[in-house]
Amino acid sequence: MVKFKDIKGFVFDLDGVIADTSVYHSQAWHQLADELGVQWSDELADNLKGVSRMDSLELILKTGGKENDYTQEEKEKYAAKKNANYLDLLKGMDSSAILPGIADFLASLEENNYKLSLASASKNSPLVLEQLGLAKYFPEKVDPATLKHGKPDPEIFARGAEVLDLTPEQCIGVEDAKAGVESINSAGETSIGIGDVNVLSEADINFTNTSELTLANIKKAMEVGEG
Ligand code: BG6
Ligand code: MG
Repeated sequence: MVKFKDIKGFVFDLDGVIADTSVYHSQAWHQLADELGVQWSDELADNLKGVSRMDSLELILKTGGKENDYTQEEKEKYAAKKNANYLDLLKGMDSSAILPGIADFLASLEENNYKLSLASASKNSPLVLEQLGLAKYFPEKVDPATLKHGKPDPEIFARGAEVLDLTPEQCIGVEDAKAGVESINSAGETSIGIGDVNVLSEADINFTNTSELTLANIKKAMEVGEG
């Protein structure tokens, strides 16, 4: 593992790391899966995390053996329907949806002159950051519409370092999704997985909850990793 003192920047996922929005994504996809007659499961919910809108729909259809049942136009209609439901669930969301400890962590990163960027697969991330009152921390964002490949491909986290003028080795990526941790690792950054350690076993550092995200805890975990 690289040394804590060599870390200069943090590349953040949004849904499930900064904001309590992954439950809304899941709820909206679950509703669509029911409509399509595809069996919902916790495993499917975990596999959808971090995955782009259209790739998520494809995964749901494949899970139900329905990948050849719809035209592209129909698929786009279903994806738009999910997004409309998701946006409905976001209505009225405010800073109370910021996950525990995140506001303090972001403030401490700013205070200690770390660079910050956002690597969210969500096209709704600018809206979510505005609603949470956290947009000021993320002038640097990777626009998911410009990506060739979604998570678990390294592209999004590699770009997250690039926009900060940092090398991947100088960055820590923070994720709650298995696909996201894979993306961070293959981009060559240090990965922090937030959530179930069994799902995120490939992360360099695991925290069960965002409230554990502090510079002191990260430093400690990286020193242990140095052996
Ligand atoms: C990711 C979420 O951040 O963004 C996924 O974890 C979601 O659940 C993906 O599907 C795409 O989001 P959007 O808002 O562009 O549909
Ligand atoms: Mg996420």
